Amino acid sequence: MSRLVALLRSFFTLGLAGDLAAVDAHLRKIEDDITALRGIIRTRDERAQKKLKAGLASLVNVISILPELDIKGAVPAFPHQGFEITGEEAAFLFHLVRRHRPKLLLELGSGSSTVLFAAALRANGAGRVISVEHDAAHARHTKELLEQAGLSDRVELLDAPLVEIEVNGRKFQWYDLGRRLETLGEKIDFLFVDGPPGKMQSLSRYPALPILMPHLSPRALVFVDDGAREDEMKMVAMWREADAFAFESEALDFLPHAPTLLTMAGESRVAELRRAREERAEPTEDVELFGRRSGTS
Ligand SMILES: C[S@@+](CC[C@H](N)C(=O)[O-])C[C@H]1O[C@@H](n2cnc3c(N)ncnc32)[C@H](O)[C@@H]1O
Repeated sequence: MSRLVALLRSFFTLGLAGDLAAVDAHLRKIEDDITALRGIIRTRDERAQKKLKAGLASLVNVISILPELDIKGAVPAFPHQGFEITGEEAAFLFHLVRRHRPKLLLELGSGSSTVLFAAALRANGAGRVISVEHDAAHARHTKELLEQAGLSDRVELLDAPLVEIEVNGRKFQWYDLGRRLETLGEKIDFLFVDGPPGKMQSLSRYPALPILMPHLSPRALVFVDDGAREDEMKMVAMWREADAFAFESEALDFLPHAPTLLTMAGESRVAELRRAREERAEPTEDVELFGRRSGTS
């Protein structure tokens, strides 16, 4: 292109000296536009490559759990761009649920994750999912995903429109669970917090712990998706400040969406573990683990 510009310049120098300045400025503008265009193409190319890499990483993770997922029908999408959990999170959550073996897993915000949890509990041979969804159309979508995957039998999909509630002096739009919490029959030992959507209000998911705490089992894990978002970080800090909630937290920042994992530890459990540690010369793995982490809550 610069050779062309030089050629044009020499041509105009020969015959049209009067217009040279205007033409020169015009050519410079074209040169600048071409440079800018190159920049845009490079940025788009980098973005496309990044998307491709993210998509591949997600896919590879889903493929790694496919044999254990054992889904005969359609496996849902776990994309990077979207509302669903990513393939990396799906693989991590699958192994976590397989290891933790929850009997009752409660999910706030349904979708691909519902299918993943149902498959993990089926692989465990025990456990059920209650998936809470505020959007009736999205609940129908999740119902279809479960049917396509042949996993409807392990899931209770709770259609729970948002209503105004007050928690610790603040008003929130949160799930109308009616009297369902009083009839759970057992405690929740895995809580997945992925709704209501953040755009609804500030600190959209804050009510989760104040409302569900009395229904959590002492061994409960609480998985907070989107842990690196400002709202979620503030929410976990506010939960921590409330005297009623004792937990240890771990930032899973090696995963997309950087979720936060909370391990609940009620006061009685803390005391019990401390006593056990003092009494035993050879601490159990559980006690040692707790000891190592006690500074994090
Ligand atoms: C973060 S999403 C929950 C995603 C779910 N846990 C999953 O892994 O698929 C939170 C809520 O956003 C809503 N939602 C899901 N997909 C959506 C979309 N494409 N556009 C707008 N809202 C959506 C649903 O009501 C859902 O309960």
